[in-house]
Amino acid sequence: MMSHLRNRALCAAGAIALTALSSAPIVFAVRIGERALVTDIAADDSTVEHGRYLVKITGCNDCHTPGYTASAGRVAESQWLVGDRIGWHGPWGTTYPPNLRLLVRDITAQQWLEVARRPMRPPMPWFALRDMSDEDLLAIYHFVRSLGPEGVPAPAHLPPGEPPQTPVVRVPRG
Ligand code: HEC
Repeated sequence: MMSHLRNRALCAAGAIALTALSSAPIVFAVRIGERALVTDIAADDSTVEHGRYLVKITGCNDCHTPGYTASAGRVAESQWLVGDRIGWHGPWGTTYPPNLRLLVRDITAQQWLEVARRPMRPPMPWFALRDMSDEDLLAIYHFVRSLGPEGVPAPAHLPPGEPPQTPVVRVPRG
């Protein structure tokens, strides 16, 4: 009975989707085509090299790689982007730069484009990722994946008022 009802609901949803589609078939096809093309970027040497360059010059390691800033960038690439246990504490609570090596292992290129463009808490310069081209974002994705998974997940975000149990950088304003 329940599954019968569910099937009917699915049919209705399908019919609505088809009706919507038939009114704009061309736009839909073009959108799908573009997206498929962009996320199909091959993880070849030049894409990975471009991703390595972008990660290096756009500062991702400054926060996501322990010791990178203190050593002026002298951290072996095998240890890059594993996330950090040093928190950033401010009016938003406490945030920790997540482990990007584990993140990219678990998501598709398409999901990466969505995750990377979401608004995030300080001090993540999320608007830089929002404004990056798909090609650049995907080059970063393929580079980080080429490094392989490493490290452990960073601590979870703490809401304002919850005292951090790790060392933190204190930021007066967001
Ligand atoms: C100033 C420090 C800082 C810099 C620089 C920085 N990040 Fe972050 N990043 C963070 C913090 C802190 C978070 C967690 C934000 C939150 O909890 O909302 C984060 C979150 C993220 C996330 C979200 C991960 C998830 O699981 O949702 C991605 C993706 C990311 N950063 C990628 C990058 C990339 C790529 C760069 C380089 C272009 C970069 N970050 C530069 C501090 C930084």
